[in-house]
Amino acid sequence: MSSLAGAARAGSVFRDDLFEGKVAFVTGGGSGICRGITEALMAHGADAVITSRSQERLDAAAGALAETTGRRCLGVACDVREPETVEQALDTALETFGRVDIVVNGAAGNFLAPAAQLSYNAFRTVVSIDTLGTYNVSRAAFDKALRAGGGVIVNISATLHYGATPLQPPAAAAKAAVDSMTRTLALEWGALGIRVVGVAPGPIAGTEGVDRLLPKHLKEKAEKQIPIRRMGRIDEIASVCVFLCSDAASLVTGETVVADGGAWLAGRSIGME
Ligand code: HXC
Ligand code: NAP
Repeated sequence: MSSLAGAARAGSVFRDDLFEGKVAFVTGGGSGICRGITEALMAHGADAVITSRSQERLDAAAGALAETTGRRCLGVACDVREPETVEQALDTALETFGRVDIVVNGAAGNFLAPAAQLSYNAFRTVVSIDTLGTYNVSRAAFDKALRAGGGVIVNISATLHYGATPLQPPAAAAKAAVDSMTRTLALEWGALGIRVVGVAPGPIAGTEGVDRLLPKHLKEKAEKQIPIRRMGRIDEIASVCVFLCSDAASLVTGETVVADGGAWLAGRSIGME
């Protein structure tokens, strides 16, 4: 075990071999929060397949993740909006690793724009990535792996739709639908040994999401509004996922866990007002 692999687990309160012999399939795993989630799953024993549209980004991330965790990681390009490409990516995952036990639906799109200025296609694009993408990947993974072997699906959500968030109408609608799907799939697939759970991060520092949605001059203001007085870290979201994917969460299904330092409780639209 390299010292880098040890560093990837540093500070973890979880057992090192939690996911030994398991394989994770993570959409959006080449960047941001979902790269962090992949690293945490791998640091606790899983091999992983990461997917997004950019093969170049995936190759770079997969190499780095394998090096820092000592586990195997493969990048396979696919567009979650296209079921055929999703199925091909899952086939590649199964040919390479023989199984898929954990699915993380993290691929997403978002930008700031008022409803009246969005094109029809702009709204459709975000909903297609977040909502249809989550269904496409869950359905294909169910057919090809989870139906027979059981497992855990983790849907990465948000808190945008708990109240009303200005300037993000498609993402708020899309994540509300994702939460609904989390509950429905948990109900339909529970008897097959499949748990379906969600994680709803608040603003997470150093991510594309925050860079896109929170203009620099509003970041400080946002942090003052969050009860814990700071944004979240990627590793904090990853820890919640590790818990949810582990047997410690064997009774948890259909639930979306909010991990936001209390941000949504404190204000309808952190940083916006
Ligand atoms: C208005 C926009 C726009 C913008 C794109 N569109 N950007 N409309 N404001 N800023 C419109 C385009 O004009 C087009 O409509 C339609 O959206 C599709 O755009 P494309 O560029 O063709 O789509 P595509 O290449 O598929 O890219 C999807 C994308 C892009 C969502 C637009 O930004 C992307 O790839 N994002 C992935 C990374 C990302 O968004 N990460 C952040 C996730 S954060 P027309 O009509 O012109 O054809 C997140 C956080 C939630 O979800 C909560 C945080 C607190
Ligand atoms: P990010 O790095 O931009 O992650 C989004 C990922 O989705 C990228 O890797 C992107 O890669 C991939 N992707 C986009 N469109 C795709 C498509 N059509 N098919 C396949 N992959 C696609 O953003 P992030 O901020 O870390 O967000 C990660 C997740 O956390 C998202 O679900 C987001 O909604 C959620 N979230 C984030 C925050 C935050 O503060 N950042 C808060 C709440 C919720 P390619 O461009 O290579 O395809």
